[in-house]
Order: sequence, then C-alpha cells, then structure tokens
Amino acid sequence: MARTARAVICRELGKPVVVEDIRVEPPRRGEVTVKLGACGVCHSDLSATNGTLQMQLPLILGHEAAGEVVEVGEGVSSLRVADHVVSSFIYMCGECRFCAGGRPVLCLEQGKAITTLPDGSVRTRDGNGNPLNIFSGCGVMAQYATVHQDNLVKIDPKIPFDRAALVGCAVTTGVGAVFNTARVVPGSSVAVFGCGGVGLNVVQGARIAGADRIIAIDTLEAKVTLAREFGATDTLVVKPGDDAAKTLKKMTGGGPDYAFECVGSGELAATAYRAIRRGGLAVVVGVAKPGDSTAVRTMTLPFEEKTLTGSYFGSCVPRIDFPRMLALYLGGKLKLDELITRRYSIEEAPQAFADLESGKNARGVIVFR
Ligand SMILES: NC(=O)c1ccc[n+]([C@@H]2O[C@H](COP(=O)([O-])OP(=O)(O)OC[C@H]3O[C@@H](n4cnc5c(N)ncnc54)[C@H](O)[C@@H]3O)[C@@H](O)[C@H]2O)c1
Ligand SMILES: [Zn+2]
Ligand SMILES: [Zn+2]
Repeated sequence: MARTARAVICRELGKPVVVEDIRVEPPRRGEVTVKLGACGVCHSDLSATNGTLQMQLPLILGHEAAGEVVEVGEGVSSLRVADHVVSSFIYMCGECRFCAGGRPVLCLEQGKAITTLPDGSVRTRDGNGNPLNIFSGCGVMAQYATVHQDNLVKIDPKIPFDRAALVGCAVTTGVGAVFNTARVVPGSSVAVFGCGGVGLNVVQGARIAGADRIIAIDTLEAKVTLAREFGATDTLVVKPGDDAAKTLKKMTGGGPDYAFECVGSGELAATAYRAIRRGGLAVVVGVAKPGDSTAVRTMTLPFEEKTLTGSYFGSCVPRIDFPRMLALYLGGKLKLDELITRRYSIEEAPQAFADLESGKNARGVIVFR
C-alpha cells in the first residue's frame, strides 16, 4: 500500500534542508518498503546540499539508516515483513566482474542507482505529486522508504535502530577502510586526518586491528579529545598553514605506516601521502569537491615505494561486513553508543545539519516515531 511519511529533502543548493510530507509507493519486483527507526546524518548528506556531491534535486537525503520491513515486493526472497535491516548505499548488479570478484563497491552498474532505484524510477512523490529523487538508491532520512532489496542487509533485532544505523555508513566506511582497504597489521602506526563520524571509526578500527600508535588529527580540540575515547594514543590539533606531515614524521621517527584522510581535501590527501614512511600507505576516504586534485612528488613513488589509494564504503561487502561490525559491537570491541552525540526528531533535521557543519557532533542521529 502507499504510505505518507515525513522526509528530509534538499530542494535548493546552499539552503537548509526542508522537512515535508511525501508519498511512498509500495514495492515493485525486488523491492522492499521499510519503516525507518533512525538515520545518521553523514557529511556526504551535507555535501549533497552544498554541491560537493552533485546529485539531481529535489533529493530525499539519508543513506545511513535502520528500520523494520513492512512490505515486500514480488521476487524478494531474502527479506520478510518484521525483519530488521540496515541500509546500504551501493547498488550491486551481482554479475559484473567486480561484483563477481567480491568487490561490489566497484560495481560497473552503480551509475544506475545514484538518485533513483536501479530501474531508473522512484517510489517517492511530494505533496504535488512530483517525483522526488533519492540519495544513493536510499533516501532513508524519512519515516518510510521503498528501496531495492540489495540496498538492505538483515540484522540482529537485538540491536537498537539508532546504533545499528551507524553501520550503514560511518562505521563500515571507517572500520572497513582499516580492515579491508589498508589491512592494517598489529604493531603499526596510524595517522587519522579528521575525527568526525568516519574518522573516529578509522581510529577505533585501527585500535581493534592492534595498531600500536594511533595519532588523531583535527582542527577542533574537542574532536581529538573524543578520539582518545576511541583509541587514539596521540593527538594533534592543526590550524591552516601547519605542516602536519613534518610533525607526524617527527612524532613517529620517519612517518606513520598508514595515514587516512577523512575530511575531503586534495591538500590533506597530499599531506597524508607526504607524512607516511617509506613503503607506507595513504588512504583517501574523504570526498573532495569535483574540481579538487592532489599532487605527489613523483620521485617518491619509485624511490620510497609509497602508495596513495582510496577507499569507498570501506571496500565492504555489506552482507558480510555489516553483521561483522555488529558482532564486534555485541562483543564489546566496537563502540557505537559513544558515537551518538545527539538524537534529533525529524522536525529538527535542519539543526542536525547545522550541528554537523559546525563540528558539534561525533554523529547526530535522527530518530523517527
Ligand atoms: N569514502 C566513503 O565511502 C565515504 C563515506 C562516508 C563519508 N565520506 C566522506 O568522509 C568525509 C568525512 O565524513 P564525516 O561524516 O566523518 O564528516 P564530519 O563532518 O563528521 O567530520 C569531518 C572532520 O574533519 C575535521 N576537519 C575539517 N578540516 C580539517 C583539516 N583541515 N584537518 C583536519 N581535520 C579537519 C572536522 O573538524 C571534523 O571533525 C566527508 O568528506 C564525507 O563525504 C566518505
Ligand atoms: Zn555517509
Ligand atoms: Zn556489479
């Protein structure tokens, strides 16, 4: 059946998000309607509202949510009504060489579901009956959403929605970058640029992986202080013009083994690369503006065998990595409770975005009723 829902929408670039009543159509073949319990506010949502991420407007935001299945379409075999699920913002065709090779984040068909469902249409309309696009095949910053079954992963219903939601982006992106992309080994040294929702998860991923030295870097003192709770052994507060690479080389006697850029800046990516030791690995997780670029001293590539790479959604396989993250949480190894600085009602969404922008939160989460 069709449902009405409140939803957080970006109608105009550079303007605050708006909360509106929308109509959510029932699921078609391969689709599922979810009643959302909670949705985290990620910097990528903010980036869609300011043009850093270029997406078709009007756009229902949200790609980090958890909820309960209320209706399943024809041909859905993996999910049933009442299952608890977490959203996944990558579409995977299941057949291309990357999907077949176990790297669905690189799926060649991903372009199909950037702001729509994989079939190119949407199940969402505004009060005037006009279609509303959805962020990354999700658009889950709403009370209800109809999405493709491959954009959902079933989870243990013991886990509260607000905490489970975080696995839909920040946790899997950060911890996955450490486990899957970099494969950080015990005893190593790790530098993390940017200690927001994603960076804090790189910090805790590094701690779980057994890194010996974890240096948290941010422009805000409060953020690096928080990073200590997640396992940082050292902190560095930077301001414009500081040479963080030089400081890191000094602190570690030659540079950290790994550096993760979790802000979204070409300049910081270059700093991360300069900071790492010979043979080190720098991983760009942050998403920079479209025109931004980065440069490295070419000679250091052969002579120092350094690597600069990126990590999308923690190089994860959602159905393997989401349960793995939640098992680490239930086992007391992964912190989720501490990641939530503040819970907001959906009507408070504009405040949640303002607080993200000003760096107030580790993560802000919108809780639906
Ligand atoms: N690769 C992926 O799959 C993926 C997934 C999710 C988010 N992201 C991107 O990761 C980035 C971080 O997301 P988030 O939700 O953690 O954002 P956030 O806003 O919560 O955190 C960013 C942090 O960076 C800090 N910062 C800003 N400028 C800095 C500087 N010059 N040096 C050091 N620290 C600085 C801020 O104070 C803040 O604490 C964004 O670019 C987001 O789009 C990427
Ligand atoms: Zn995100
Ligand atoms: Zn594919």
